[in-house]
Amino acid sequence: PYDEEATEDYIFKIVLTGDSAVGKSNLLSRYARNEFFPSSKTTIGVEFQTQSMVIDGKQIKAQIWDTAGQERFKAVTAAYYRGAVGALVVYDISRRQSFDDIGRCLEELRVHSDMSVVAMLVGNKCDLGHLREVSSEEGRRLAESEGMFFMETSALNSTNVKEAFETVITEIF
Ligand code: GTP
Ligand code: MG
Repeated sequence: PYDEEATEDYIFKIVLTGDSAVGKSNLLSRYARNEFFPSSKTTIGVEFQTQSMVIDGKQIKAQIWDTAGQERFKAVTAAYYRGAVGALVVYDISRRQSFDDIGRCLEELRVHSDMSVVAMLVGNKCDLGHLREVSSEEGRRLAESEGMFFMETSALNSTNVKEAFETVITEIF
């Protein structure tokens, strides 16, 4: 006899992408463990965290993958994106270069993952308003032209972190 109460399990792979030091790992640690590291080191290799939630009575597991934004780790690219159904494409609102590199990140995402991937453009470090180099409007416009969702977040003070991940997860579902 099988357990009729058992809920269906969905596992969604979600990837983080964006330049080095934009805050990908801290967004993930803030979301999954409510932790923030003021002086975190660049990610070595690939790490992931699993987060569970219930949507419409279904048990959803989001497996969120994180790797370094640096070129020297590019060998992992194909396997990293394989099977991804969601993506957070992250830049740092206080560093223009990281926004200018979004195009390259999107290209990589599109080459290696399915067209239907749910993508969110994330302008992180919105707590650094006094150092802002990229306006919210620019972010919103780029997201719109690329057919992505858009949010500004802060892994430091938690602004929109849960919302960014959960919007993607809910949209996939
Ligand atoms: P790689 O692993 O090298 O690709 O970098 P990453 O994108 O994972 O960046 P990481 O999360 O390691 O953060 C880089 C630095 O930015 C760290 O010193 C963090 O403490 C800081 N940081 C991350 N998120 C925020 C944020 O929202 N606000 C502020 N002020 N600093 C942040
Ligand atoms: Mg990292």
